[in-house]
Amino acid sequence: MLILLDTANIEEIKRQYDLFPVAGVTTNPTIIAKEKTSFLGLLKEIRSVIGTNTMLHVQAISRKAEVIVEEAKYLNDEIGGNLYIKIPVIPEGIKAMKLLKAQGIKTTATVIYTPQQALMAAMAGAEFVAPYVNRLDNVCSDGVRVVGEIVELFRQHSVPAKVLAASFKNVEQVHKASLCGSHAITASPDIIDLLLKYPLTDSSVDQFISDWEGVYGVGKVTLNV
Ligand code: E4P
Repeated sequence: MLILLDTANIEEIKRQYDLFPVAGVTTNPTIIAKEKTSFLGLLKEIRSVIGTNTMLHVQAISRKAEVIVEEAKYLNDEIGGNLYIKIPVIPEGIKAMKLLKAQGIKTTATVIYTPQQALMAAMAGAEFVAPYVNRLDNVCSDGVRVVGEIVELFRQHSVPAKVLAASFKNVEQVHKASLCGSHAITASPDIIDLLLKYPLTDSSVDQFISDWEGVYGVGKVTLNV
């Protein structure tokens, strides 16, 4: 399963890309706006941190298919590398996915709340579909159930698109999305950090080191005793 970072914060991307098996970075207009800096400059910086082979997902803004296609070509030229253009699943967005598929530009269908939106986008040629788990949970729906149904639909119909579950507010949501077969998840750096957190892990490591250092000396590792 692929783990992506849902952020445009350079420091967090550097830190987590260095530590974790990060398959890519996803952004959206809100995430970009939060950094309050040059749009293109920021994306180029992210690209230079993660390299050309790592996935970068960037959202087009227009509601018109022809303009979305122009945005996609522009972003592809300017940012390059393994780039995915995120496009909302509005009718004009679906049209843009079809047009971009024909031109060999990769797309990620976003703002997905129902399995049929995901299926439509996949049929139009989107490589990834991004259902919004927490935003569904917030309106008394079941985000993980939607993820599971999309996974099952794609399996039943041999659809090559992958599910990139998004919008998480806790580890339990990520865990359940993984468990029901989501091919990928994207989450903010604080949630990614929490995926590793467990108090007994920290206290166990503390105990091991304290026992070791009691005999071999503070700061000693296996290399120098
Ligand atoms: C993914 O495509 C979205 O950018 C993102 O996950 C939305 O998350 P939010 O609901 O926390 O804003």
